[in-house]
Amino acid sequence: MSQLEFDDNAARTLEAMYLTPDVVGQRAKVIEMLAPAPGEHVLDIGAGPGLLAYDLARMVGESGRLVGLDASAAMLKVARTRLAAMPQAECMEGDAADLTFPDASFDIAVSTQVHEYVADMEKAVKELHRVLKPGGRALVLDTDWRSIVWHSSDKARMERVLQCWDDHLADPHLPATLGARMRRAGFRVLRVEIVPMLSPRWQPVSYAAGIMKTIRGYAAANGDRHGLSKEEVQAWYDDQLRLAERGEFFFSLNRYAFLAMR
Ligand SMILES: C[S@@+](CC[C@H](N)C(=O)[O-])C[C@H]1O[C@@H](n2cnc3c(N)ncnc32)[C@H](O)[C@@H]1O
Repeated sequence: MSQLEFDDNAARTLEAMYLTPDVVGQRAKVIEMLAPAPGEHVLDIGAGPGLLAYDLARMVGESGRLVGLDASAAMLKVARTRLAAMPQAECMEGDAADLTFPDASFDIAVSTQVHEYVADMEKAVKELHRVLKPGGRALVLDTDWRSIVWHSSDKARMERVLQCWDDHLADPHLPATLGARMRRAGFRVLRVEIVPMLSPRWQPVSYAAGIMKTIRGYAAANGDRHGLSKEEVQAWYDDQLRLAERGEFFFSLNRYAFLAMR
């Protein structure tokens, strides 16, 4: 397994991908599910470039509090710039599996596309539960990469590329066990929603177009273990461009949002 490094370059790429309509729609869904109110205290674990944190900080207002926590200094730099004008918002370095806040500190704890990277998930869910006030809401959203439907002219090669890509996560199938894990930690799971990343045809500004480039880079650097040469990875990528030109591109992948109460 070789996890993605969230450096300056990754932070810029991720920010661009997370400004595409698919992920803008995801944030609207997360906000609808959490319904943050003015004055509430919110923790965003793995806040990344701070796009969701920005919306949440505006919703809780100056009588509330928003803490954006992340393990990556490069991500925190982007988030701090985005949140700079809001006194209710602060960013800090930290680990999802080892939160430094006292018990019952927050009304809301949210974490999107983060726990799939966390090796000690048992501890991370316990921590999520611990820092919430009784009655507080948690929302955890992750991708299950088994849900992917991605058309290719070479099915076997596509499978090998996706197997290689699975290595970038601690658990590429986390949603399948997430509800049970949250219940074991003492949560009441209230609602589960699918958030699709869907490109039924080629869309240059889309999650699919962005992740395609990221997967090409990752597989070119880490493909050896799966018998993938750099040339094969490039051929996989070129095939997608050809399908796009011919009007035959199709990409569909599900993220799963779990809303729970402590
Ligand atoms: C795919 S990004 C998602 C960012 C953001 N939550 C969003 O949805 O826009 C994953 C983020 O999780 C952070 N991360 C990964 N492992 C972490 C951990 N153990 N503790 C805190 N943050 C972590 C990364 O640095 C990165 O910013």
